[in-house]
Amino acid sequence: MKIAYGENLLVRKRVVGLKRVAVLTSGGDAPGMNAAVRAVVRKGIYHGIRIYGVERGFAGLINGSPLNPLWLGSVADIIHRGGTILLTTRTPEFTAAANQEKAADYLKAEGIDGLVIIGGGGSLCGALALQRRGIKVVGIPATIDNDIAGTSSSIGFDTAVNTIVDAINRLRDTATSHERIFVVEVMGRESGFIALAAGLAGGAETVLVPEIDYQLPEICRRLMAGMERGKLHSIILVAEGAASGYQISEEIKEITGLETRVTVLGHLQRGGSPTAADRILASQMGAEAIERLRNGESGQMIALEGGKLVGVPLKDILDVGKAFPEENYRLTRILSI
Ligand code: F6P
Repeated sequence: MKIAYGENLLVRKRVVGLKRVAVLTSGGDAPGMNAAVRAVVRKGIYHGIRIYGVERGFAGLINGSPLNPLWLGSVADIIHRGGTILLTTRTPEFTAAANQEKAADYLKAEGIDGLVIIGGGGSLCGALALQRRGIKVVGIPATIDNDIAGTSSSIGFDTAVNTIVDAINRLRDTATSHERIFVVEVMGRESGFIALAAGLAGGAETVLVPEIDYQLPEICRRLMAGMERGKLHSIILVAEGAASGYQISEEIKEITGLETRVTVLGHLQRGGSPTAADRILASQMGAEAIERLRNGESGQMIALEGGKLVGVPLKDILDVGKAFPEENYRLTRILSI
């Protein structure tokens, strides 16, 4: 008899204990979420666990959306795709106790013994709420913002930074040709991690982030000095949480009289094929989430710490602000002199 792809693993590795694990993606999508889903599914199946996909994140749980069994083939051909095959929603109503209760009851009624939640800060808060309602849950940090404490990297950040650097490279060509100042507004919500990393990698003259105060007249003096020394263009990266790119551009034009242009990269930063670094991180974190659930652990987020994967208690990281790498901010200023 011909054995279907994966069936032999199910037979050989069937284990007692963890039997039915659900996985969902939540909040803003991030490149690499699919690679994480793939890892959860395949590592789970490898250990004889049945994996179910919840569509549309917490909304799917509140509404009791059918749990879709995911097989080896369900996650074929997705490691290189941005977005999320499970679909995602922002679900502010999940902060309501009644909805958390409804979701927990649904998972219990469906016999789910473990849940993997892939998403950003809001999604991990939801994970903690479910854990407090008796669900065994492990979180995986996935957000382009990289603003989650306890982990040096979240899935999607590397891809977004590379997308921005690619945009900066293109803008440099036209900026130099016209000897213009380009203001580039990037995402990051209330944080400047993306702006800083892209600014350092892209050689921006100035990076404006919400974590650090800035004085526009001083920035303009630096811009003028650079132009006087023969610089043909300048790139100013503005994190959306620090200011509006359009406003900064107007003010620079007013103070310096230099010609400015604005590019708001917007959701371009969230799409695209994940980089190898994000695929590797997502694969490792997805597999580790299953490993933690198999060990009976719950209420944890898989984190990257000193280059190693660790589990950190969700309750310890969710109200904590992530430390901003000020040394990189100083370095960016020095190198763009
Ligand atoms: O959290 C990721 C993020 O892309 C932020 O950088 C941005 O502020 C926000 O999501 C945009 O959210 P939405 O896609 O819901 O408009």
